[in-house]
Amino acid sequence: MSGVTYHKSIRDLQPPGITTAESQEFYNGWAPNFDKDNVEANYNGPRMTAERALELFEGKTDVRILDVAAGTGGVGEQLHKLGFRSMDALEPNENMLAVARGKNIYGRLIQDFLGTNRLDIEDGNYDAVVMSGGFLEGNVKCDCLEELIRVVKPGGFVVITMREHNIRTVPEYRNLEPRMAALQSEGRWEQVSRVIFPNYIEGEEGITYTYRVC
Ligand SMILES: C[S@@+](CC[C@H](N)C(=O)[O-])C[C@H]1O[C@@H](n2cnc3c(N)ncnc32)[C@H](O)[C@@H]1O
Repeated sequence: MSGVTYHKSIRDLQPPGITTAESQEFYNGWAPNFDKDNVEANYNGPRMTAERALELFEGKTDVRILDVAAGTGGVGEQLHKLGFRSMDALEPNENMLAVARGKNIYGRLIQDFLGTNRLDIEDGNYDAVVMSGGFLEGNVKCDCLEELIRVVKPGGFVVITMREHNIRTVPEYRNLEPRMAALQSEGRWEQVSRVIFPNYIEGEEGITYTYRVC
């Protein structure tokens, strides 16, 4: 017995091999219930990610943060609770973004996919980018790391939180740590920490990567 209780919507969202289009279609219908279902699934990624940001800035909250794969704004809400006030959101799904908009916590709401495409954001615009729950089947791919780095100012941070076992069980993410390491070898960023923690979601472990942009 693993003791893990799996939530139906969260299972249905990520069958192996789900495409981006299928996943986006799922979010279209799920958006109104996303927050409620994630409370039921005991999803702690947004809180862990926001607390990591506060720690990195040593309690200073007058910094600019981009929340990528923002969904309904869970990370933004947690950042707001901790005193951050300058957050933008990047999210491709209109219905998810509509819920995030209703929370009135973000400045810019940018409707776009993160990937190899250039976002409508200037170089070095943010002190940090944060992403919780973006790396799962059919969602953000490993090819996005360069674009995350581009929009963060030198010395700023990239904070990524995800389900720990996805780095082994989802074929796309087996390539994640090698890509992160390659970017470090190229002098693009350096790892500050790699922390595995309990109770990310549904009682399973999460992992938070923190990188400082060079
Ligand atoms: C599981 S939700 C997580 C939402 C939020 N970060 C949270 O923790 O509650 C993943 C979100 O990533 C978005 N997403 C999927 N592919 C994306 C991409 N390529 N770029 C940016 N966001 C993407 C989805 O539309 C969805 O809203």
